[in-house]
Amino acid sequence: MANSVVLSAILLDWFDQNRRDLPWRKDRTAYGTWISETMLQQTRVNTVIPYFERFLEMFPDIPSLSAAPLEDVYKAWEGLGYYSRAANLQKGARCCTEQFGGALPQNYNDLMTIQGIGPYTAGAIASLAFGLPEPAVDGNVIRVFSRLYALPLTQQDEKSKREVTDLVRRVLPEDRSGDFNESIMDLGATVCIPGCPACGICPVSNFCQAFLLGKQSELPLKKAKKPSPVFTYTIVILKKGNTLFIRQRPDTGLLANLFEFSSYPGLLHPGELQTLLFRDFNLSPQEIGSITSLGEATHVFSHIKWEMEGYLVEINEINDDIYSPLQFSEKEETGNFYTIHYARKMAFPSALKAYTAVVFR
Ligand code: ADE
Ligand code: SF4
Repeated sequence: MANSVVLSAILLDWFDQNRRDLPWRKDRTAYGTWISETMLQQTRVNTVIPYFERFLEMFPDIPSLSAAPLEDVYKAWEGLGYYSRAANLQKGARCCTEQFGGALPQNYNDLMTIQGIGPYTAGAIASLAFGLPEPAVDGNVIRVFSRLYALPLTQQDEKSKREVTDLVRRVLPEDRSGDFNESIMDLGATVCIPGCPACGICPVSNFCQAFLLGKQSELPLKKAKKPSPVFTYTIVILKKGNTLFIRQRPDTGLLANLFEFSSYPGLLHPGELQTLLFRDFNLSPQEIGSITSLGEATHVFSHIKWEMEGYLVEINEINDDIYSPLQFSEKEETGNFYTIHYARKMAFPSALKAYTAVVFR
């Protein structure tokens, strides 16, 4: 316990000398705290400053925010993004008007009943504006605490947030809870920054387990990325003489307007593919000259992954005194045969590189 008293005392001393001069820290009010903390979710401090000042001029208090047309609130928010935050502020203001006499309630539990106010914002308003001993834990606080205690925590993770909330509760000084919460915010923003923190100038490096272990750059843990959904395709390159069947992708969506070969969902064996080609392209067995495997390929997009199996299907020209385009039946194909020479200049997605490299070689 003694240690945590020293830790908070050092942080508060550091904060007294280094606190950032931010507009919501002058004349601290519950309303201004609510607005600034809401703006600061997902948006950087420097961006928020002018928005905060303008918003408080337009809507200086809960009655004016309650009474404003929602369009005006959106207008004041324009450029900050996440517009539901703006709509929630007005809903919250109206809730305060109806249920709490036109002011923010002065305790954590009532604050939590207001639309758009979650544990972080409730804790921030309670501690910063009302001096109540409540933690206010966001991703930055998780970063600082995971380092101070060398804990394998993850930002944006509910379990880590609960763990840090408990830790903050243990070190939070009753008499200066707001300043303590803000000292962590400032330390996280200016010293204990993401990536490589500035431990050399850190006031609490003597207490910091991650620093003592040399693990400050490894904490907090990176969120394990969810594996992207996988889509499988059988890519079919129909080759007739010196021409290839090519179609254009739709003008919206993934890889819009780019050219590609025919394909089927799923990874098909040559036998399965042959059956589908008979069905969809009205090909007779004699017309399918050969089906050559071009192997597997994968392509990782930002949000999905393609796994592909490619085949080169050579079509015999049985009756080559008449030009006979394929008679498509069930498969809704809208492509054409292009000479390889011409097709080289068409824009194919690099996702198909493994196959374009073979046929355009
Ligand atoms: N980020 C979130 N809340 C903040 C605050 N009150 N001061 C500085 N940065 C913050
Ligand atoms: Fe963060 Fe380094 Fe200070 Fe530890 S010593 S709290 S890692 S800045």
